[in-house]
Amino acid sequence: MSLTGNVALVTGASRGIGAAVATALAAQGAAVAVNYLGSEEAAHDLVLKITVAGGRALAVRADARDRTQVEAMAATVKAELGPIGILVLNASIGFPMAGFLEYPWEAFEAKLLGELGAAFHGCRAVVPQMLERKGGSIVAITSGLARNPGWGFGAHSAAKAGLEGFVRALAFELGPMGIRVNAVAPGLTLTDATVHIAEKHKAAAAEHTPLRRNGRAEDVAQAVLGLLQAGFVTGATLPVNGGGYVF
Ligand SMILES: NC(=O)c1ccc[n+]([C@@H]2O[C@H](COP(=O)([O-])OP(=O)(O)OC[C@H]3O[C@@H](n4cnc5c(N)ncnc54)[C@H](OP(=O)(O)O)[C@@H]3O)[C@@H](O)[C@H]2O)c1
Repeated sequence: MSLTGNVALVTGASRGIGAAVATALAAQGAAVAVNYLGSEEAAHDLVLKITVAGGRALAVRADARDRTQVEAMAATVKAELGPIGILVLNASIGFPMAGFLEYPWEAFEAKLLGELGAAFHGCRAVVPQMLERKGGSIVAITSGLARNPGWGFGAHSAAKAGLEGFVRALAFELGPMGIRVNAVAPGLTLTDATVHIAEKHKAAAAEHTPLRRNGRAEDVAQAVLGLLQAGFVTGATLPVNGGGYVF
């Protein structure tokens, strides 16, 4: 599958892993829709960076959890850049960290609905455009926490595990239509989402990682691009964790 000349939508691409994926896709010649929610300036700065480098990009605001907004975004991208052939489900759905006995059901429910709703709405809005192109490739960003628990991460683990199941179900259904669906499962990655983690904990994580460092957004982007182009791989989850734990 060629990235050059393709049209990609990356959800949550104003910062972090999504911004790295959008940058990498544009560098390979894809036209990229940079979805954002609150970080309008960062999204527009990224679009400017891509266009100055000779690429094509468009910033589109939409809450990935909201079906109407996602459908409108997909229509805008099609009108401005052409039918979407690549979808990266990356938007980071927030959640409070707390132990199970204190966890408010409302927060647990919001995380599950947000994570799975964003995946469902994104795919429902984009798959018809992929069918028009006679094929496409979807990568969802899950997490190592889908399979390896951590204290306070119950809602996140459950939501990301659900997302992995969704990826396999869609891979099974959409494969005969020429659409591949895979997941990338990062370990601890240095983005705004992990700035609150103390340096000593990051250093300890690096020490226990065979590749002896923390992950970077660019590491995840490389893996996403690899899966997008791996023409006979579907339904797979690729860990990006420096060998930090074995799947
Ligand atoms: N960092 C890690 O250690 C790590 C590890 C495993 C998995 N992941 C996963 O990797 C993905 C990206 O995480 P990150 O670390 O790059 O996060 P980040 O740096 O905090 O960036 C989050 C991005 O998601 C966007 N976003 C949040 N809610 C959104 C919504 N409802 N609709 C659309 N966009 C939304 C933000 O947009 P605005 O700023 O415009 O609001 C921002 O661009 C997430 O799915 C996360 O679960 C991260």
